Amino acid sequence: MYIAILGRQPALGIAELERVFGGKAINPISPTAALIDSDKDFDIQQFGGVLKAGKVIAELPRSDWHQISQKIVQFYTNEWSSFEGKITLGISAYNSPVGGREVQKTGIILKQKLKKYGVSLRLVPNPEPALSTATSHHNKLGLSPNKVELIIARATDGKVIIATSTGSQNITAYARRDQERPKRDAFVGMLPPKLAQIMINLAVGPLLPTTYQLPPTILDPFCGTGVVLQEALLMGYAAYGTDLSDKMVDYSGHNLQWLANGFHKDFDFRLSQGDAMTTKWDGPISAVVGETYLGQPFSAPPSPTKLDEVVKNCDHIITEFLKNLRPQIESGTQICIAVPAWRNKEGSFTHLPLIGTIARYGYKPHEFTNVSQNDLLYYREDQVVARELLVLTRD
Ligand SMILES: C[S@@+](CC[C@H](N)C(=O)[O-])C[C@H]1O[C@@H](n2cnc3c(N)ncnc32)[C@H](O)[C@@H]1O
Repeated sequence: MYIAILGRQPALGIAELERVFGGKAINPISPTAALIDSDKDFDIQQFGGVLKAGKVIAELPRSDWHQISQKIVQFYTNEWSSFEGKITLGISAYNSPVGGREVQKTGIILKQKLKKYGVSLRLVPNPEPALSTATSHHNKLGLSPNKVELIIARATDGKVIIATSTGSQNITAYARRDQERPKRDAFVGMLPPKLAQIMINLAVGPLLPTTYQLPPTILDPFCGTGVVLQEALLMGYAAYGTDLSDKMVDYSGHNLQWLANGFHKDFDFRLSQGDAMTTKWDGPISAVVGETYLGQPFSAPPSPTKLDEVVKNCDHIITEFLKNLRPQIESGTQICIAVPAWRNKEGSFTHLPLIGTIARYGYKPHEFTNVSQNDLLYYREDQVVARELLVLTRD
């Protein structure tokens, strides 16, 4: 059993985990954490929606921090009393009423106990109850037997999960993949690499067996600067990108070449210019993942007339794209596209009309066990245009 500490928009992480491990295997226990009933190896670097992962070592009934702390000190004094070398320990409490000071106190008591056995422990200092992803990552917690992070997560029903981290998101690598690419374009919008990973997992589902001879091909028909293609290549897929704009096709080419140079890998990718409403793609296509045309960017909610115009335009382009795509892919092909949804001042959304009629075009929306379509919205508080994720199967 694993635990996942979820990202800023937990529903996206839950949906992603559901697609990879199956809906029944995922149990969201609080707004910040979900349990994963699986023995499969869990490589956090493949999951955009998960901040930290851990192996569950104990489940306690409703307990206060004092009881939890005693259990931890007892268990790890035993476990580490004859440990060779120095231990680095971080402790993170989630969804718990305790403050950082109490969490640190548990670590200090454990440190004192171990000292008696001649074992040296460095406690990662932290004023908050939980270590930030950056601190966990920089201290390499969870990546070797002497660098440990304890994850203590209180469930909404009161029970307490204790887990040892198996790693946290590599924020340095994400930042590099996002900000150091040679070709970026603020106007087409920049898809965060984490969201691209979530979308790929939502479309493809169970992760690739490493023994695959020919990697499946992921098509992004709105490839822009190539973030989806980049993440698909890093996850072991072949990538095929098309875009209406020659400039974007060129940008994707530069960015993917930069990626290949950096990783010293001969990545399998193809690019060409094409209008998603009419183009003929070269098969075979295993899955389709892309951030479609989102309309013009807005810094404040547009007038009703303007909004109506933009909604109609986007709805038309995306509907025509789906109609063009259907006969070119096999029945059962999985798709994840990000389409626009517009947020008004009160925080409610205008959705694309096609979402309600998608079955008419020969696509079946995926039904999640723990999240609904309305949860699959990605946005920051100051954004008017949100990305709504549609997970579809070609029927
Ligand atoms: C929101 S951007 C995608 C950005 C992309 N995810 C990236 O990593 O940069 C949408 C892209 O759709 C392209 N586009 C707009 N209309 C299109 C059409 N009819 N067919 C194909 N591409 C189109 C634009 O040129 C733009 O690059």
